[in-house]
Amino acid sequence: MINLRVAGTGSYLPPTCVTNEELARKMETSDEWIRSRTGIRERRLLAAGDVPSDMGVEAARRALLAAGRTTEDIGLLIVASNVFEQPVPGTAPFISKGLGLPGDVPFLDLMAGCSGFVFAVAVAGGMLSSGTARSVMVVGHEALSRFVSWEDRSTCVLFGDGAGAVLLEPAAGESGILGVSLHGDPSKVHLLRIESGGVRAPSTVEDVRQGRHLLKMEGEGVFRSAVHMMVRASLEALAHAGLGVEDVDWWIPHQANVRIIEAFARRLAIPESRVFVNIDRVANTSTASIPIGLDELVRAGRVREGDVLALTAFGAGASYGTVVLRW
Ligand code: ACO
Repeated sequence: MINLRVAGTGSYLPPTCVTNEELARKMETSDEWIRSRTGIRERRLLAAGDVPSDMGVEAARRALLAAGRTTEDIGLLIVASNVFEQPVPGTAPFISKGLGLPGDVPFLDLMAGCSGFVFAVAVAGGMLSSGTARSVMVVGHEALSRFVSWEDRSTCVLFGDGAGAVLLEPAAGESGILGVSLHGDPSKVHLLRIESGGVRAPSTVEDVRQGRHLLKMEGEGVFRSAVHMMVRASLEALAHAGLGVEDVDWWIPHQANVRIIEAFARRLAIPESRVFVNIDRVANTSTASIPIGLDELVRAGRVREGDVLALTAFGAGASYGTVVLRW
């Protein structure tokens, strides 16, 4: 067990809301198709000209405020995302600057597909338990709307933008990380990808013309792997914690598709009332989906001291994992 407490949570959703009906006026799709396949009704999109790190800064500020802490209290900043503000030096320094962190506070970017936030919380737990960090601000933020083709209806309707953050601090007592399971399966590297823009394939004019700088997804393959991956990681993390499925008060799964979430819950016989779902309002916000969900639950007063929470996700790579926490 890693003793720690979630001192505060925060989240930010950009104000621009785009409904399925609005999308259906711009492309060949329908509210019925999107809702029945994914559970999504609307999504928030980052306005043109705005940058993703501003969302991360705002979510982190809200987490600090909720914790009653200031930027002086942040010992390490970990930023999980799939979209870098710029390839070098990533996003974390921009969030550090936006928060006004003192100039010697370490920061790092962590990329693990949509599982990035789960991986970041596990890494933060290790840094806290080893005494390497005195506290960790973990931010998950995403603006995949900037990396989908708005001409590819099978992908663009799925994603929304947003950010979430948690401030983790060492603690004595019962609260902390009870169990962790993290995995990677590179045989599924093709399922979700942006092919060009890196060293392997620097973006050429031809790449951009063919849309290789944008997100490609093999939806059916993702769907087939996702449930199995979240089930495996969750059972392993619970076994490490010495707990059963029935001991979890709140499951907060990555919000990729309501049918994936429902199939996952069915496989583990989890009652619907214990599974957090907000995909209808925010769509798939990738690494931001779990901290946004956690913040919603906490602000609604639905998480009580002693509750057991399971955060579970899968994503590009394929990466997948579960962290089990006691609040
Ligand atoms: N509106 C209308 N029709 C569409 C749309 C759309 N937005 N998108 C695709 N279609 C069409 C296709 O062209 C295809 O038509 P065709 O049969 O004439 O060729 C048809 O719909 C495909 O329909 P289905 O096969 O029934 O679609 P399916 O039920 O497989 O749903 C979906 C597709 C929603 C992408 C599903 O496979 C899925 O959810 N996969 C998981 C993907 C996922 O979760 N991604 C999240 C990103 S990954 C992550 O977060 C880690």
